[in-house]
Amino acid sequence: MKITECINNRRSIRSFIDKEVKKDIIHELITLGTKAATGSGNEAWGFAVITDMDEMKQLSDDTKKYILENFEKYPYLKQYESWLTNEKFNIFYDAPCLLIIYGDTNSHWYTYDCTLAAGNIMLAASEYGIGTCWIGFGEHTLDTADFKSKHNVPSNYKLVCPMVLGYPKAQLTAPTRKPAPIFFHE
Ligand SMILES: Cc1cc2nc3c(=O)[nH]c(=O)nc-3n(C[C@H](O)[C@H](O)[C@H](O)COP(=O)(O)O)c2cc1C
Repeated sequence: MKITECINNRRSIRSFIDKEVKKDIIHELITLGTKAATGSGNEAWGFAVITDMDEMKQLSDDTKKYILENFEKYPYLKQYESWLTNEKFNIFYDAPCLLIIYGDTNSHWYTYDCTLAAGNIMLAASEYGIGTCWIGFGEHTLDTADFKSKHNVPSNYKLVCPMVLGYPKAQLTAPTRKPAPIFFHE
């Protein structure tokens, strides 16, 4: 698939068939993620992969509870109140795989490095017929000291991108966007 085709057709996927994403494919996607540009060549990324769907369901429940109890800290999430109070809503959409990208805070550039790696992974995934969705809801619960220590993530690493992966239930139409604001072009 041409890279422009991947870019033009990528969508966030929130509904998956019951099929695991094989370990070697996940590792290949991670490797492709690490081919992204990296500030000062620091390669300030690290990855955790969760495929235990019971754990993901528990993490989803814990996250919803945490956000609802701390709504005042997250005014930008208020618009999702009806999703978060819906018992059936799983913030990870029952995906078979949750890939979490953490940035090494010893590098000034870690947020950029990890976001570029995430972009590579999203695009590369489409080559394998795999859909992805960045899960910003997980921003707090996947970055706690407890969670990180349980999953072997060093404490100097900070969460940048939680991303679910899986085989899409349906093909979505290409994304539409407003015309790009171009502030200056001589
Ligand atoms: C930083 C960031 C956080 C996001 N968080 C969520 C999320 O928690 N849940 C979700 O369903 N989608 C999430 N998304 C996906 C966006 O909703 C999606 O990219 C946007 O609606 C555009 O749709 P498209 O990706 O299909 O083009 C997030 C995307 C980004 C970049």
